[in-house]
Amino acid sequence: MLDLITAPLVAHIAAHLGVPASAISALITTPAKGVQGDVAIPCYQLAKARGTSPPALATELAAMLATTGIQATPVGPFLNVTFAPTQVATTLLGVLAQAPLTALRTSLGAGKTACIDFSSPNIAKHLAFHHIRSTMIGNALARLYEAAGYRVVRINFLGDWGTAFGKLIAGWKRDQLTLADLAGSADKVTFLHDLYVRISNAAKQDAGVEVEARHWSKRLEDGDAEARHLWQLFKDVSLQEFKRVYALLGVDFDSWKGEAFYEDKMGPVLSELEGKGLTKLDQGALVVDLSSLGFKKPALLKRADGGTLYATRDLAACDDRWKDYQFDRSLYVVDLGQALHFKEWFAIARLLGRPYADRLRHIGFGIVLMWNDDPGEGQQPGWARVATRKGKVMLLREVLEEAIDRARAVIAEKNEEIIGEERERIAIAVGVGAVVFNDLKSGRTNDVKFRFEDALRFDGETGPYLQFAHARLCSIERKFSEAHPHAPNGDHSLLTREDEKQVLLAIARLRAALERSVESDEPSTLASALLAMAGQVASWLTNGNHDHDARILCADSGLSAARLALVRCSRACLGEGLRLIGLQAPERM
Ligand code: ARG
Repeated sequence: MLDLITAPLVAHIAAHLGVPASAISALITTPAKGVQGDVAIPCYQLAKARGTSPPALATELAAMLATTGIQATPVGPFLNVTFAPTQVATTLLGVLAQAPLTALRTSLGAGKTACIDFSSPNIAKHLAFHHIRSTMIGNALARLYEAAGYRVVRINFLGDWGTAFGKLIAGWKRDQLTLADLAGSADKVTFLHDLYVRISNAAKQDAGVEVEARHWSKRLEDGDAEARHLWQLFKDVSLQEFKRVYALLGVDFDSWKGEAFYEDKMGPVLSELEGKGLTKLDQGALVVDLSSLGFKKPALLKRADGGTLYATRDLAACDDRWKDYQFDRSLYVVDLGQALHFKEWFAIARLLGRPYADRLRHIGFGIVLMWNDDPGEGQQPGWARVATRKGKVMLLREVLEEAIDRARAVIAEKNEEIIGEERERIAIAVGVGAVVFNDLKSGRTNDVKFRFEDALRFDGETGPYLQFAHARLCSIERKFSEAHPHAPNGDHSLLTREDEKQVLLAIARLRAALERSVESDEPSTLASALLAMAGQVASWLTNGNHDHDARILCADSGLSAARLALVRCSRACLGEGLRLIGLQAPERM
């Protein structure tokens, strides 16, 4: 989007140096903090090609540009350029006032498909707080990819298979439980979790339990009606709970095919590997030797007891996704702890000559640490991997609920006009938004720290801060339409202020940030660009509160209308930017 402004600059330099315009536009960056200028061009490469020094070239270019009316200054090896506010306003607002969302759309992925495997929790357990990471990084990537033109398939690869279910069924039978017991429990997933803990403890005392568990695992694998029925029940109960949390987070999926679906589809993959002579037996286990690809250890495909493993299942699932979607990219949003698993099976896909092997990406991320101020008896407050309160683990749902409660209290205090159902809606948007933004604001491979007080601040780098900036713009729009119901479309060239120009330039930088977010699967890039933009908006609006000349609703109705066009466009871009990273943008706060 910035290229609309930089095009004349680029053309002059390209003509002067006799190089293609793309060689210049690729160099354009933002000047370092505190340095004057709207864009900077580092002159290293260009100077080398011309046989001169970077500072000398910067000086030469500045002198050349002076004759064209473009204001440029050499700063060491950089050429810094400052645009005229009116030029920025007429060029950018000319486009953005008609279609503000063009700032957040690209055709990078037009005609392409991306599969995104995210969240993918194990059933019969709760969503723990750490599940926020895969769920919300994946959700943001899905929306960002869509904005970049991709067709996106959201996949929840549920962990719904394994020996745990044989054990659960054995426990169910042992305790002679009935559907009524489950239906009557206040929290069905906790009921299943407790059942699992009981039977696991019983197994420690009584070897017979393991035998029963294996027996039920076998019956489940063989499709026995009773075993399948109970398994389905456990799955339904878990999904009900998951979907409640997903609804709070605003997340949905196109496919819920979990591990169980691939149970009978792994045989062919294993035979193919064996047929191609890629496997060998290692102490009874079936493995693939990946040493030719630089791996130290072979990858396990099948245990000595015949149980198939995670890698085999992921391969089978990927074949299926390839058949269904012919994806251009397939992302796996899973913590960095599983990096080796993905490296291994991506390598096996390559050995098998799968056409999709180069399209797979593991989108790893760091852990989330929570500030536990009340961790329970004998424990010191501090950062911990497991969120606890009074010695009890806090689930994702509980963390969200607490954030919502805190947001509700702040809103009640800040704005007493907001009541009832509206207040509830806004409390959810702000509470959830605070938790989600905290997770997305820094690079995904970093570990993240979460503390309620920090995430919920209305100033600083938080979700509520961005949401508040949006609500502030909405409120100006409301006031304006009351004051001037039939306002004309303003003359954009009246926007001559530096702060207005900076808002527009920050908006114009959003598209490149979106593209970089998609290319590096990094929602934080857009998150940072939104913070930068909201910062420019905030100082503009604050100037307007203090300085008569900067007021949006001013005596000059043409100027007011032009400023309002900028308000509208900022509001639309901020709202859309928030949506793309998975936050709601309430109109009042
Ligand atoms: N269910 C797994 C877990 O909880 C995550 C699955 C990730 N997706 C995948 N295709 N392996 O660790």
